Amino acid sequence: MESLIFLMRIWWCCVFIIPWSTTEAQIRYTIPEELREGSVVGNIAKDLGLDVSKIIDRKLQIASETGKQYFAVDVEKGDLTVNERIDREDVCGYNVPCVLILQAVLENPLQMHRVEIEIQDINDNAPSFKSNERVLNIPESFNSGAKFLLESAIDADVQSNSLKSYSLSINDHFVLNVKTQDGVKIPELVLKQPLDREKQEAHKLILTAADGGNPVRTGTCEITVVVLDINDNAPEFEKPFYETVVDENETNHKEIVTVKAIDLDEGLNGKIEYFFADQTPDTELFNINQQTGAITVKKQLDHEKASLHKFDIVAKDKGNPQMEGHCSVKIKVNDVNDNAPDIIITSLSSPIPENSTNGTVVSLISTKDADLGENGKVKLTLAPGPPFRLSPTVSNHYALVTNGPLDRENYPEYKIELNAVDGGSPPLFSRKTVIISISDVNDNPPIFTEKSYTVYAKENSAQDSILCSVSAHDPDLGENAKISYSVLDSKVKDVPVSSYIYINSENGSIFNLQTFDYEKIKVLNIIVQAKDQGSPSLCSNATVHVFILDRNDNAPAVIYPSTSMGSVSHQRMPRSAKAGHLVTKVTAVDADSGHNAWLFYRLAEATDASLFSVNLHTGEVRTKRAVSEHDDSSQRLYIEIKDNGEPIQSTTVTVDILIEDGFHEPISDYRLKTTEDNKKTGKITLYLIISLGTVSVLCILTFFTLVVKCVKSSIVSSSCCIRRTDSGYKNPNRNLQIQLNTDGPIKYVEVLGGDMMSQSQSFGSYLSPMSEFSDLTLIKPSSTTNFTDTLNTLDASLPDSAWTFESQQVRQKLRWLYSELSVYI
Ligand SMILES: *[C@@H]1O[C@H](CO)[C@@H](O)[C@H](O)[C@H]1NC(C)=O
Ligand SMILES: *[C@@H]1O[C@H](CO)[C@@H](O)[C@H](O)[C@H]1NC(C)=O
Repeated sequence: MESLIFLMRIWWCCVFIIPWSTTEAQIRYTIPEELREGSVVGNIAKDLGLDVSKIIDRKLQIASETGKQYFAVDVEKGDLTVNERIDREDVCGYNVPCVLILQAVLENPLQMHRVEIEIQDINDNAPSFKSNERVLNIPESFNSGAKFLLESAIDADVQSNSLKSYSLSINDHFVLNVKTQDGVKIPELVLKQPLDREKQEAHKLILTAADGGNPVRTGTCEITVVVLDINDNAPEFEKPFYETVVDENETNHKEIVTVKAIDLDEGLNGKIEYFFADQTPDTELFNINQQTGAITVKKQLDHEKASLHKFDIVAKDKGNPQMEGHCSVKIKVNDVNDNAPDIIITSLSSPIPENSTNGTVVSLISTKDADLGENGKVKLTLAPGPPFRLSPTVSNHYALVTNGPLDRENYPEYKIELNAVDGGSPPLFSRKTVIISISDVNDNPPIFTEKSYTVYAKENSAQDSILCSVSAHDPDLGENAKISYSVLDSKVKDVPVSSYIYINSENGSIFNLQTFDYEKIKVLNIIVQAKDQGSPSLCSNATVHVFILDRNDNAPAVIYPSTSMGSVSHQRMPRSAKAGHLVTKVTAVDADSGHNAWLFYRLAEATDASLFSVNLHTGEVRTKRAVSEHDDSSQRLYIEIKDNGEPIQSTTVTVDILIEDGFHEPISDYRLKTTEDNKKTGKITLYLIISLGTVSVLCILTFFTLVVKCVKSSIVSSSCCIRRTDSGYKNPNRNLQIQLNTDGPIKYVEVLGGDMMSQSQSFGSYLSPMSEFSDLTLIKPSSTTNFTDTLNTLDASLPDSAWTFESQQVRQKLRWLYSELSVYI
């Protein structure tokens, strides 16, 4: 700076010479701007040619035209000095040259001098931009060569110090072009290389303006180029292909996969939304979140319907024009054991007959499971119980077959429970019930409520009255259980049983066709049959024993003494008879039986009641005392014979007794009489008498033996009684029948000999309870009409005692008895 000022002083001196030559002197100084206050411009006194000592006197003054006093005069030295800092730019602006005009005024005499001071420029101003920052928005689509006008810089200095050049910071995309318009340099940016926002969003450039001063001053402006986005990028998926696996039972809204696309663009150009591509069939199964790209399950997936889902996803940005990208998604659906096995009844034959053989196919069954692998393997089982089993055929097919006998009567219907389980974990079950009804087969005969029925029917009861009702039951069904009753034809004493009774075929009631006469028939053995209507029909038999109960409908009949010659019997006796002499014996029989046949003899009336007595039970007529001389030789006795029935029946017999002197033959003549009466049968009768005597003895012996045995055995086993059904012993071939009524004490023994006796003959023998065994009386055959049908009756009423028999023993004894008898016959 010091040297600069020194150089200038030299230059001023040169300038000084020129104005000095004029009177009215004109002085010109040249100074640079921005001098310090007090700096000396020049010695004005000397330059005006004035004596310094006279300056004060002449009052030298400096006046400025502008009014501003930039300068002052040092009166002591005569120097012109800078009074105030002078800024050339302020005083002159861009005018060149910049001259300040001053008046130097002197008094005594008044003199005026023009003083010109030229202010010279110094480079004290740098170029400057109005703003130091500038933002340029340039779309990335612009081609190279595009121009963008920039702001010019300003430099207050002039001439060589003024703005000289522009420069741009180094970059790849722009170059600077400076054009001159009206002498003003205008910078502009030229695009050298296209922009890419996706690579660089903004570019920072520095524009520098430099002046021509020395030293050079510069000014800068920061230019920011903002690259504007253009939708020049399509959304692009991170992967072209997404694959995932999901269980079929996955819950709704579960996120299974998220697709993601990227759009390098900005703003709406880069805002992506996701959609299913058109023609995606699975949109009803899946949902895609448009914003996030998350794919969720919308509807229950089913592996069994579709195990794989494939579709495309489109990502679209919101730019204009819109751009889109694609990807594909593959979703595999895993099988889960979500299907219970299914039991399918393919065929069912029901009802099946109860006589179906083992292994009869009843139903065809198959199983199904929609799951895969183990999840779809089905095991079928039967609940235990019913007689059925499963027979596997081809895979998953079974035949339900019978496995044992069926019985409709016990199990008319079977509920068969089928259980299916699959092999999943956990396994799934299903259950089905098959109902099989069993149809009836006529496999049960009717069953009577009792194997044998016993009926007691009173004789003389009215005909067409119900004797009894039999009933049978058939466990079968319908026609197979419809029962009709019938009586099997058999003969009772050569008369078909159907002439005695009939049966109501519908309800089994048995009626009598005629009144029974106990004296003709005592027991009726009927076989009734119950038959069902099945095909073939089945039947069963039962026996009905009809026992005819006796009624006292017969009066006692006198057998001896015979009254055949008249109403009076004649007997003789000697007068010498002592007391107790047996005069005669009245014998009567009663066709009835039991109590009704118990007879009592009573002397009803007598010529001399003191002489005779009649034994109540035996009917023996004996003398009470010895006959005396005074007794009348002709005596008449009225003997009444009464039975024990209800009502009592009685008969009387009149016996005339002739007391003879010297008569010594008390034996009665009946034996002779009988032989005379019936010579033909005499021989047989004799045999029979012998036989019967033997039988009686044997019988008695047997009974005693039995009694002894029974008493012993009854201690051990309580049963020692005879069943009615076992007591009849018949041998029709041999025409001999011994019938033993063992209803309690023996009531009768029947000995029948059909062929051998051309005429019906009866040998009635009875033992009244009071009589002794020795009193057994043999009676000759009688032709009394009353007895024709009840011949052969041996009525042995034994004394009342609890005689019981073990049936088998009785049967054996009787068999033996029979054989003994047959020897004689
Ligand atoms: C059976 O039918 C007959 C005739 O209809 C009847 O008299 C009888 O009482 C019936 N028997 C039974 C046990 O119902
Ligand atoms: C029933 O009795 C008759 C005659 O005695 C006989 O033929 C038939 O076989 C018997 N039926 C049954 C089931 O016993």
